[in-house]
Amino acid sequence: MTALSRVDGRVKVTGAARYSADYPIGGLANGYLVLSTIGRGAIRSVDTAAARRSPGVLAVYTHDNPPRLFGGAESGVGYNWLPLQDNQVRYHGQIVGLVVAETFEQARDAAALVRVDYTAVPPRASLRDGIPGATLPDDVNGEPPLLDLLADGVASIDEALGASDVVVTGTFTQPIEYHSAMEPHAAIAVWRDGYLTLYSGAQAPQLAAGTIATTIGVDPSRVHLLSPHVGGGFGNKILTWGHPLLAAAAAKALGRPVRIVLTREQTFGVTGHRSAMSQTVSLGADRGGHLVAVKHDAYASLSAGSDGFLYEAGPHTTSRYFYASPNIHLGQRLVTLDVPPQTPMRAPGQQAGSFALETAMDELAVRLGLDPIELRMRNYATTYPGRGVPWSGKHLDECYRVGAEAFGWSRRDPVPGAAVDGDWLVGTGMATAAYPAVRYRTTGKVRLQADGTAAVSTATSDLGTGMWTVLTMVGADALGIPVDRVRAALGDSALAGNPGAFASAGTASSAPAIQAAARSATRALLELAVTHERSPFHGLSQDQVRYERGDVVGPGRRIAFGTLLGIVNLAGIDAAETTALGPERERFAFASFGAHFCEVAVNRWTGEPRVRRVTTVIDAGTIINEKTARGQIIGGVIFGIGQALFENTHLEPDTGRIANANLADYVLPLSTDVPPIDVRFLNHPDTVFNPLGARGIGELGTVGIAAAIGNALHHATGRRVRDLPITLDKLIDT
Ligand code: MOS
Repeated sequence: MTALSRVDGRVKVTGAARYSADYPIGGLANGYLVLSTIGRGAIRSVDTAAARRSPGVLAVYTHDNPPRLFGGAESGVGYNWLPLQDNQVRYHGQIVGLVVAETFEQARDAAALVRVDYTAVPPRASLRDGIPGATLPDDVNGEPPLLDLLADGVASIDEALGASDVVVTGTFTQPIEYHSAMEPHAAIAVWRDGYLTLYSGAQAPQLAAGTIATTIGVDPSRVHLLSPHVGGGFGNKILTWGHPLLAAAAAKALGRPVRIVLTREQTFGVTGHRSAMSQTVSLGADRGGHLVAVKHDAYASLSAGSDGFLYEAGPHTTSRYFYASPNIHLGQRLVTLDVPPQTPMRAPGQQAGSFALETAMDELAVRLGLDPIELRMRNYATTYPGRGVPWSGKHLDECYRVGAEAFGWSRRDPVPGAAVDGDWLVGTGMATAAYPAVRYRTTGKVRLQADGTAAVSTATSDLGTGMWTVLTMVGADALGIPVDRVRAALGDSALAGNPGAFASAGTASSAPAIQAAARSATRALLELAVTHERSPFHGLSQDQVRYERGDVVGPGRRIAFGTLLGIVNLAGIDAAETTALGPERERFAFASFGAHFCEVAVNRWTGEPRVRRVTTVIDAGTIINEKTARGQIIGGVIFGIGQALFENTHLEPDTGRIANANLADYVLPLSTDVPPIDVRFLNHPDTVFNPLGARGIGELGTVGIAAAIGNALHHATGRRVRDLPITLDKLIDT
């Protein structure tokens, strides 16, 4: 395990790194979006006269005069409609106009002068009110939305619950949550000779470029998207939203580059969020603490204006496989609401599902008088439930052991409210983390260059994850040369084929492709060494030369690849390889695991909850860069602290307006809310999964942490809070 500082660190801290809105493009015009101010209905009329007369305004677009460039709503767009193509209003905060002016301020001021008259109908904005009308999705991750895995002779999950010695049941809710990436969404569109260059933060540059091309009706070969630095994505920069589409369309119509930067408030309407969820979990166990029945049903909000894709609420991504049980029931239902679109958000499914399941497990442990770790070990799954295949690598038991030791779990008095520190009630809690290990078909490219450096590239993205650094390290390792001789490239749709950075699959997908391309490049180098007539190795057979740490080595000589390329007068030698998970996918299940332990304190007078310390132990295979990996896990834990204690989207029920669409009122953890986080990696290589043995970590750290905090709060206070966020009013008598 090595720890390398970010290769992109210097450009980031010096401000030299360019994010979407930062490119100095000559003749840039600025767009500002006009958003709907009703929750549902239709536009009756729009008056743009005052806006058009406003200083600096170049154009005002509405559905009356849309920039006519669109093909159709393509998959890859996060909406099931396209901006300005009709007069329908699906939710409060939907795009209904675009003002383009010389400056951002002129566009913003003119946008305030656009008068829109609506015919409004009451929006559906409450998950709870919509539950009676919930519907079933077609499938969830390829499985039926209602899935029963029952032992022979068991007729229903309720029968299995009825036969259990002990049953705990709880309903768990959480509100809509927003990714709140530091970099608000932005796009710059530049047309030149029928070709479009877009600067827009994207987790999946090629998906975004392709989506934008088909949606605006141009050949994909004519769209080039650049996204070298992304100021946070967390899932909300996978799909395409309205701003790059409108920037491209307006730039074409005006014959000028156009930039659209969303304000923080606009990101709440124009881009995606995590669905609101309500989940009910029932666990049945025998007196020995063996699960007899796991029943997990969920409702998730689905925006009527979204692409319709569900990122499910938890059952199928947690209770499906977290524990062994002879009887498992999973249920996923949808409640259609007139709200902005849902989209993937860090550990979609697992984040909410683990809060419900891991809290219920804690309740069961309390009920049985069993230690929470012991309960989990008694239900340890060694094969994937219902499939019977083992995991390619699973060391969750070791996570519990190492974490308990490091945290000091054995000193815990299980009685709630037993530990007091002045005015503070102190508690500890733990929970399991798991997230599927995913690997996509990916192409990597390696170029050995005459200057002695190597370029490694693939069209993935670094949304803060450390991918620049990891690609550099993987390239250096595969070529046996120092990292300072390797230049990585990513964040460019013109690079080698890559699905993008999501599902915690970035490293696991891209690293093997770079490795394979490096092998190919060194093979090509050796071939060149023996066949090129100016090469000092010319005429030798292939088995008389070998590649070793940047050099071609033959009888009596060793020549660096850069020198050799110079001698034969070649600027570089290229190789590309495509890699994917093979048939092992049939014989194994793949997941990363972890265990969280945390200590909380609750002020006995005010109910204020504080997280005091966290210990997280991670089993994610080989850790390629211990430093950036630690950052990922710490970020995931902080994400979970937000879920547990702070984040809440306040929807006005009668208007569908988000009342706290800003970072003052949408409360995120501040540095003062983040305790010491002790992250430990087991680092057991999973070479079944890929040659490096590395699984994903981007989302794992956030799975289970809210439950660990909630369980600790119960331990501190004796109160079991099942509604997120767990704010102080829920921890005192009111
Ligand atoms: Mo992730 S929610 O797949 O970026």
